[in-house]
Amino acid sequence: MSDYVRNLWYMAAWDHEVPDGGMLSRTLLDGKWLIARLPDGDYAMLADRCPHRFVPLSKGRLDGDVIHCPYHGLGFDRSGACVHNPFPAPPPTHVRVATMPIVHRHRGLWFWPGDPDKADPALIPDFAFVDREGMSRSRMTIHGHYELLTDNLMDLTHAEFLHVTSFGVNGSIFSGTQSVTKDGSGAIWNNWDMEAVTPPDWALPLLGDSAPIDQWLHMRWHAPACMALTVGLARTGTDRRAMVVPQMVNPHIITPETPGSSHYFYDHEATEEAAALARQVFVEEDEPMIEAAQDALAGQDFWDARPAILETDAGAIRARRRLMQLRRAEAA
Ligand code: FES
Ligand SMILES: [Fe+2]
Repeated sequence: MSDYVRNLWYMAAWDHEVPDGGMLSRTLLDGKWLIARLPDGDYAMLADRCPHRFVPLSKGRLDGDVIHCPYHGLGFDRSGACVHNPFPAPPPTHVRVATMPIVHRHRGLWFWPGDPDKADPALIPDFAFVDREGMSRSRMTIHGHYELLTDNLMDLTHAEFLHVTSFGVNGSIFSGTQSVTKDGSGAIWNNWDMEAVTPPDWALPLLGDSAPIDQWLHMRWHAPACMALTVGLARTGTDRRAMVVPQMVNPHIITPETPGSSHYFYDHEATEEAAALARQVFVEEDEPMIEAAQDALAGQDFWDARPAILETDAGAIRARRRLMQLRRAEAA
């Protein structure tokens, strides 16, 4: 199945995942790719498969900005051209490795699997907030189609069922107001605003008491599945800008690995406790549900399965529709 929209920026990795002067191998959109950090600080992205006998080039050696195949020693530069032949003959010019545009932005490495002439870095969604002290940037593999992960993140009502113990939520979203909007950057926002509710357990140590609060959960989505969640809390009756707990924004960036699995890029405070909570929420609570939904679909198309659509799905469905439009436009 290849339902990927090609003319979009996708995140391949956090920058720290690629060692200085080294390479990272990763499956992205069904293909095996390597990302190399070159001596001049630039990154290169090449197919992780030697065109001679198909071994992974990432198992070879990066010497300067030439990647040497571990099998028979051909060398390739950042443009994918063969520039080294271990024999005295000139390098074979007809031998090339596929490449993709890659850009370092907001601590992430973003690639463009579509027409390279359209790869405008200005189209990378704004995740500038990610670059801040005291945070750990992480990645995990989730066994689920990337749009099932989008459904999960664009419908936070699930927290009231799945994350009751981890976040200590208490049903406040059921008295909340939802609004779905679009902004000038093409993002879809799925916003929940709750007034005069009991704070969730996770916020109690920060608030110091359980007096009523206004809480907001605003999820921003950019195609294909690049999300950012803003969480804010203010004492009920005060100006929202007078927050006792500073507003938090976190990335939830999903990139398809295969049709049935996804890379999930997120961050958390750089403490063992925060890392453990993230693992509990994503691995023990969200992932089994997403995987079960995928198993239940058993390869059937989402729309063919005739999903019940609820009002609370408005954001998730708009995101799915937008992707559908983009796919159709590319197919045409
Ligand atoms: S497999 Fe790479 S040079 Fe032979
Ligand atoms: Fe969740």
